[in-house]
Amino acid sequence: MKLEILAVLSSILVSEAVNFKRSEYSNIANLLQFENLGYNGRYYPVSEIEALNSKDCKCSKDMENPVVFDGPIAPLNEEVSVHIRGPLNLLKFGWYHSESYKFGNTDGNWTRGAFYDALEATAENVTFLGNVGFENVCLGQALIHVDETGISKANDSTILGNVTIPSNYELTIMSDLECSGKECGAFRPDSEAYHGFYGTNKMFLFEFNAPSDLREEDNVNKTWNYDMPAIWLLNAQIPRTSQYPLNPNCSAWNSGAGEFDIFEVMNVTERNHFFSTLHDFQGTDDIGTGIQNFGYLERTPGAVMKGGVVFGEDGSASVFLSNSTSLDSSISNNDLNDWLKPLEDGVVKAETLSTVSLNTASVSSIKTSKSKGDAPSGFQGSFGNGIFITIASFLLGML
Ligand SMILES: *[C@@H]1O[C@H](CO)[C@@H](O)[C@H](O)[C@H]1NC(C)=O
Ligand SMILES: *[C@@H]1O[C@H](CO)[C@@H](O)[C@H](O)[C@H]1NC(C)=O
Ligand SMILES: *[C@@H]1O[C@H](CO)[C@@H](O)[C@H](O)[C@H]1NC(C)=O
Ligand SMILES: *[C@@H]1O[C@H](CO)[C@@H](O)[C@H](O)[C@H]1NC(C)=O
Ligand SMILES: *[C@@H]1O[C@H](CO)[C@@H](O)[C@H](O)[C@H]1NC(C)=O
Ligand SMILES: *[C@@H]1O[C@H](CO)[C@@H](O)[C@H](O)[C@H]1NC(C)=O
Ligand SMILES: *[C@@H]1O[C@H](CO)[C@@H](O)[C@H](O)[C@H]1NC(C)=O
Repeated sequence: MKLEILAVLSSILVSEAVNFKRSEYSNIANLLQFENLGYNGRYYPVSEIEALNSKDCKCSKDMENPVVFDGPIAPLNEEVSVHIRGPLNLLKFGWYHSESYKFGNTDGNWTRGAFYDALEATAENVTFLGNVGFENVCLGQALIHVDETGISKANDSTILGNVTIPSNYELTIMSDLECSGKECGAFRPDSEAYHGFYGTNKMFLFEFNAPSDLREEDNVNKTWNYDMPAIWLLNAQIPRTSQYPLNPNCSAWNSGAGEFDIFEVMNVTERNHFFSTLHDFQGTDDIGTGIQNFGYLERTPGAVMKGGVVFGEDGSASVFLSNSTSLDSSISNNDLNDWLKPLEDGVVKAETLSTVSLNTASVSSIKTSKSKGDAPSGFQGSFGNGIFITIASFLLGML
């Protein structure tokens, strides 16, 4: 299906470049872009969730009242949480928001709304959490505070130390604003529930090291997600209910609440390639695979990497690594543009859009009665015709 389009496109691009380590779906790039991100759709939030004991849970979704969303970057314009998978040593993190941003803007500013600095041991508007609480078979472990190691439980909010989160361990970052009432929707009662980071015009910046995991080099299969570091965003509702539930009613993820993978190693074969993937129903009915940008950014184990993702009201998501990145309390678009511009220079831009026809059969269970669209049936009701997503990679030149 859509993957074929991308594969063909990427092989054309690969053939134009020399000295790439070839792989069917991979092109080295400096900047990975999604254009036309955001659509009119809906997802089904969890309305009830509870771990009844260590084995059973009770979850429901309100199928009569989906969340209907629309507009640039939707549904990722809702609050999102930030997730880290090791091996990764997070040195700095910042969330920024702006009144307005379109890719290439040189006027306007970004305001930092959350910040963490490992070496200074400071955190503002940041809460470090992990799936280290009460274990329930259908929900997994509850999301609660972690201590400075990032992988053990703490009784209270604690600033993460300068540590390397090991392979397969995950860390969650939320704001320091606790969910007080219904505004966060349902959340697991035995977890710690915080707000995520809001905005359509929002930016997440990171300084980090993703050192190679050499512990089990001779037996890679022993550890799940061995040496596959990642940084990604989820609709903040997802971790507040359950990230990896056995019961599909315990998370809004599968109905399309939204996930954006910023930097993700997908497998050990390409352990030094960071891919970026969108997981919702824009342009695909296969949320598990999602829409992966066909470029990748280079992971340099042992070096400090700097970069992140910028989302704008023009429906752009720009994922980049640039040593120019700095996490100041205010960032002008002039500076941001200076970081991004060189990444575009002298490179091949992939202009082709993937326009994907939607498979209505597999989503026939979605009710149409609440649809904002005018089409009478299923998927088309909310997705309309001609919804497509553009993916562009800026390839490194002919090095
Ligand atoms: C590793 O992941 C990349 C990106 O998704 C994919 O193109 C490649 O085929 C994968 N390799 C293996 C061996 O699974
Ligand atoms: C951006 O910040 C600069 C320096 O702080 C300031 O001079 C300028 O007025 C700001 N621009 C906007 C649009 O807020
Ligand atoms: C957390 O609280 C429990 C119960 O009050 C206490 O026994 C334990 O020592 C505390 N742990 C830490 C790390 O403070
Ligand atoms: C931070 O941690 C890394 C390894 O995790 C270490 O190499 C580095 O020296 C530490 N920096 C400081 C200032 O402690
Ligand atoms: C902290 O983050 C929350 C949630 O996104 C936001 O509402 C709040 O304004 C932030 N606080 C500051 C001081 O920026
Ligand atoms: C999920 O919720 C739906 C609607 O409330 C219900 O019909 C279904 O049985 C539930 N599934 C599970 C596995 O609990
Ligand atoms: C960025 O900095 C890292 C670490 O200092 C270095 O290894 C890398 O070569 C730099 N990249 C560029 C493009 O200058």
